[in-house]
Amino acid sequence: MKATAKAHTNIALIKYWGKRNEKLILPTNSSLSLTLDGFYTETTVNFNEELTEDTFSLNGTTITGNQYDRVSKFLQLIRDHAGIPNVYADVHSINHVPTAAGFASSASGFAALAGAATKALNLDISDEELSKITRQGSGSACRSIYGGFAEWQMGEKEDGSDSFAVPIVPPDHWDVRMAAVVLSDTMKDISSRVGMKRTVDTSVFYEGWLSAVPHDLAEIKQGIIVKDFEKVGAIAESNCLKMHATTLGADPPFTYWLDKTMRVMQKVREIRAMGIPAYFTIDAGPNVKVLYLPEYESKIEQILREIPGVSNVTLSKPGQGISYL
Ligand code: ADP
Ligand code: DP6
Repeated sequence: MKATAKAHTNIALIKYWGKRNEKLILPTNSSLSLTLDGFYTETTVNFNEELTEDTFSLNGTTITGNQYDRVSKFLQLIRDHAGIPNVYADVHSINHVPTAAGFASSASGFAALAGAATKALNLDISDEELSKITRQGSGSACRSIYGGFAEWQMGEKEDGSDSFAVPIVPPDHWDVRMAAVVLSDTMKDISSRVGMKRTVDTSVFYEGWLSAVPHDLAEIKQGIIVKDFEKVGAIAESNCLKMHATTLGADPPFTYWLDKTMRVMQKVREIRAMGIPAYFTIDAGPNVKVLYLPEYESKIEQILREIPGVSNVTLSKPGQGISYL
């Protein structure tokens, strides 16, 4: 009972930032992302009736503690779903993405885990079902089932049965690019999970965030459908700034930004002033992602690499949805 799955990370253009139910991972707002071909996870799951507990290795290192607990708890959901609550698994995962540094390793990681585990058990489930299961490992991961642009519809039901991601256009609809500007690839101090909880619980700006998202989401979807790059980029950038503003209104306040983060943001504004359309977005970490069109790739890469403090720049096209090896 063994299978291997490959899933790519996704970067949100409209951010998921807050839960209404922490156990089922139900969000307070819908979100929208682009799956990237440059970063991915490959995970092998091997269910074995002789095991007395799960094992988890990440990039060749045996993992214990919180990261292990998260994987094992997630596998339990799938075991229960399959009616084999006591059959444990060996899990081997390789992240072709920095772990816990704001590059969405949790998204590719849990999507690959969900895909491999359900495939190993021969569960016959739709993408919608797989997205719902994946959501319970890490919210943003439910969007990585699909290639290209995907929307996680927050749903309303208390049991989460209407909270899952859907593709909004075919995966090859539009060739936009994203540069990941690496400033730091060390583990962050405040995980997305902890940061969003503190924000929901304490930020004086959280109501403002919630009231802004529906408009941003409706507008960006329109922009994606008609391929209006300036519109899509401008909304993504302003939505990211609103999300990060909520962290400054939290108690205690915090920010994911470093001085280098702001330097890259400023450079992106200068690139626009040169007449090149480019927009930034930032997740729960200091690194910046820059959205641009393919014809400007070499110019953008050159400018980003020259910024002091930038240690690497990785270029991505829209990535594919989950696949099995
Ligand atoms: P990131 O920005 O990388 O998504 P998060 O703090 O949101 O950072 O999530 C990182 C966490 O996701 C890790 O601490 C680990 O618990 C989990 N994770 C990352 N990669 C994998 C993987 N390949 N398999 C299972 N879990 C993973
Ligand atoms: C800023 O999906 O990592 O990247 O559901 O607690 O696992 P959990 O959180 P996670 O949060 C992602 C937050 C974000 C925005 C986004 O990807 O939409």
